[in-house]
Amino acid sequence: MTNARVNIDPQFVVGAINRRLFGSFIEHMGRAVYTGIYEPGHPTADDEGFRRDVIDLVRELGVSAIRYPGGNFVSGFQWKDGIGPREQRPRRLNLAWRSIETNQVGLHEFASWTEKVGSELMYAVNLGTADTADALEVLEYANIEKGSTVSEQRIANGRTDAFGIRMWYLGNEMDGPWQLGHSPADDYAKKASRTAKALRQLDPEVELVASGSSHPTMATFPEWDRTVLEYTYDDVDYISCHGYYEEKAGDLGSFLACGVKMDRYLDTVIATADYVKALKRSDKTLNISFDEWNVWYLGDNLRSFPRQADRFYRTDEIEGNDWPETPRLAEDVYSVADAVVVGGLLISLLRHADRVTSASMSMLVNVIAPITTEPGGAAWRQTTFYPFALTSALAHGVALDVRVESDHYETDEHGSVALVDAVATHDADAGRSAVFLVNRSQSDDITVTIDLAALGTTTVLDAQTMADDDISARNTREDPDRVRPSRNPSASTAGSVLTITLPAVSWTAVSLG
Ligand code: AHR
Repeated sequence: MTNARVNIDPQFVVGAINRRLFGSFIEHMGRAVYTGIYEPGHPTADDEGFRRDVIDLVRELGVSAIRYPGGNFVSGFQWKDGIGPREQRPRRLNLAWRSIETNQVGLHEFASWTEKVGSELMYAVNLGTADTADALEVLEYANIEKGSTVSEQRIANGRTDAFGIRMWYLGNEMDGPWQLGHSPADDYAKKASRTAKALRQLDPEVELVASGSSHPTMATFPEWDRTVLEYTYDDVDYISCHGYYEEKAGDLGSFLACGVKMDRYLDTVIATADYVKALKRSDKTLNISFDEWNVWYLGDNLRSFPRQADRFYRTDEIEGNDWPETPRLAEDVYSVADAVVVGGLLISLLRHADRVTSASMSMLVNVIAPITTEPGGAAWRQTTFYPFALTSALAHGVALDVRVESDHYETDEHGSVALVDAVATHDADAGRSAVFLVNRSQSDDITVTIDLAALGTTTVLDAQTMADDDISARNTREDPDRVRPSRNPSASTAGSVLTITLPAVSWTAVSLG
């Protein structure tokens, strides 16, 4: 057993926590939409064909906003395919995921679903095979109340009120050779700049995200981001980040610390954005939309797609030249260790709350997701569901810049790393605070002390810990509740000092009132 100390002062504010930090992502990929959120004929299906069991779980997860409809899919998507009478909608080839897109769920249906789950709809436009005119038309369709041919078409299709979508993504991962319409940075940047200007001219209220690098390991990172921002800085509100993490060749130590990798990635993108700010003598500070993040096992047993020689995606059903409908793609089953890492990644995002004002866990249902469904059957929570749900429920107000005193350990990927990582949040109006902690030690419980005096409370409302003797334990159809967090009985206060013991390889949320 070793010890650590977390120092908290509510005066040391990182920034206000934007609720969009607890966003997610639904792409037309695999079973995210079909048999994920939408399955007419399922015993729980509502009158629009949406699974009520999934709606309940998404609400419980506390998802603030959802990015849609892609991802790689959007770069070949013709948005008009998804409007109008369903029986007339085309069956298209989904080139990104080598499958058939039936278009039974489109903008109207997805908007209705986001209202049911209580989330904001955030929309990505196709800047791969499409251009500014197409983006303008979907914005007009979605956000102009009435009086133009395009807005009247929405009304004729059954939606009187405008959708009022605020957040718009200018393409997706345009730096990636796998992307339809992939182009050199300045080609994309010019297209993004003129599209952004046009969208804002149509609707000044929109918030716009330029497509940053798809991963910090890309050879073009961070030069891609610098170039894109040199063209678009005045036109957009965000630059995007994407990051997927996995345990490599049994290197659990590095995996548990991949929050460090996320921190360094964010620090580089922030520095790049601020460099462009300085170049432009601008008063405007650009924010980050971390619009895809999660654990994703891209490593073993994967087959490549024809256009994706250097990027691999898990596919259990795709063979040869088949174009299946609703294949099982990237249905990762997450362990306790994965949940601890997800909790750690949320700590990193909160630590950057001043600049990361939108983030989307990728994805939400079935595809690299915290919720899994069986067609015609049950829906259940993966291990990663819990750190997200608890953080979303407890992290309100502002994120605090805490100081952690802890032993370190050596990692192959990130060098020397603290065994304990933590962040705190403070909501002065509600008189509530929370502390989120990970113990990355693979062998030792760690007892942490936190002086709560500055927070003005000594009341521990709850302390929930995610840990297990078997860190590879998972939730499955047969055993959907095998892993869940439990109350940490060690949490106690003496005077103003909170003491809590964190088991080896664990994530903990302490709620203070
Ligand atoms: O989230 C799955 C895919 O990962 C997305 O389509 C793409 O943007 C990323 O590479």
